[in-house]
Amino acid sequence: MKKLLIATGGGDAPGLNAVIRGIYKSAKKSKEWEVYGSMEAFNGVWADPPRIMKLSRNKTAGIHVKGGTILKTTNKADPLHYPVKDEHGNIQLVDRTKELAERIKNLGFDAVISIGGDGSQGISKALFDHGLPIVGVPKTIDNDLAGTDLTFGFQTAVQIATESFDKLVTTAESHHRVMIMEVMGRDAGWIAVHTAIAGGAEICLIPEIPYDINKLVEKIESRYEKGRGFVNIVVAEGAKPKEGSVVSRSPEEGSRHIRLGGVAFTLSDQLKQAGVKVEIRETILGHVQRGGIPTAFDRVLASMFGVKAFEMVQKGKFGKMVSYTNNDFTSVPLEDATKENKTVNPNSFLVNGAKSLGIIFGD
Ligand code: F6P
Repeated sequence: MKKLLIATGGGDAPGLNAVIRGIYKSAKKSKEWEVYGSMEAFNGVWADPPRIMKLSRNKTAGIHVKGGTILKTTNKADPLHYPVKDEHGNIQLVDRTKELAERIKNLGFDAVISIGGDGSQGISKALFDHGLPIVGVPKTIDNDLAGTDLTFGFQTAVQIATESFDKLVTTAESHHRVMIMEVMGRDAGWIAVHTAIAGGAEICLIPEIPYDINKLVEKIESRYEKGRGFVNIVVAEGAKPKEGSVVSRSPEEGSRHIRLGGVAFTLSDQLKQAGVKVEIRETILGHVQRGGIPTAFDRVLASMFGVKAFEMVQKGKFGKMVSYTNNDFTSVPLEDATKENKTVNPNSFLVNGAKSLGIIFGD
């Protein structure tokens, strides 16, 4: 029997377990492969003794319905920038991908499937360049990964955000308030635009279209003048004003990941300073958007990604990432996935269509 290793890296996304199950079930059917999972991304491979779990029917049955990942995950200990203490006790980030590739081969694995976002695809590319037979599976709720039209977790995040938005609308109406709801997405506004259209927001702010605070004030005032005494705003965590910077926090120790979040409060203050007199309330959805059960669509997308990834392993198509493009399951070279992230085009039909529905972006 050949041995296949799976790892889930970066932030979790609903659908990860469906990918794992899809890989396991198709591998079992092949009768040629045993499937193992490295715990917490590749930390399981670094560990001594290794923390590697053999997958079985019992461990994978029914998991496609559950959020999270049975293999656990982490943003820390990226092997391309692995934190190592130098002789002075200072942390240096070093590339340990060559060593990691050797370690995986020495543990007897014939192939690897790595499920993750842009960071993980970059790691997969480096491992492949060091001779490791590896296939990537795209994952992110932000939907900003290049090389694929869609990633699983995105639709679930939009569904959760829309349900929350619907709830905020009724309370905004009752209190004649301006409600600001902040959604995730890093430097891309996909979750925000989709939620704003689905929920029927008046204002949507995204990183790709820096906003003019005066345009927002005009919109709010005109709504109140017309007697429509409430306003609902969706703001992406990476949104920024025309003259200003994005709200971010420092990375935690051992992570290169700059955290975003809190822009809802900044925007609220800016609106007050620019003259908005009505009450404003802020909601930051945060990690709720990544939790719970995946939508039916994300279960399908993730399951098919798993099946496709295993098919690629069996056919020896390494150094590639599974992709969903033009309504089809296909694959692209790993370098395509590590190019610049896919962001919302301000001139796209999506944005212009949202504007036709009366949503303003503050441009
Ligand atoms: O990339 C997914 C994502 O949820 C982003 O939308 C968000 O900025 C980030 O991860 C949050 O990361 P963490 O889980 O490390 O707080």
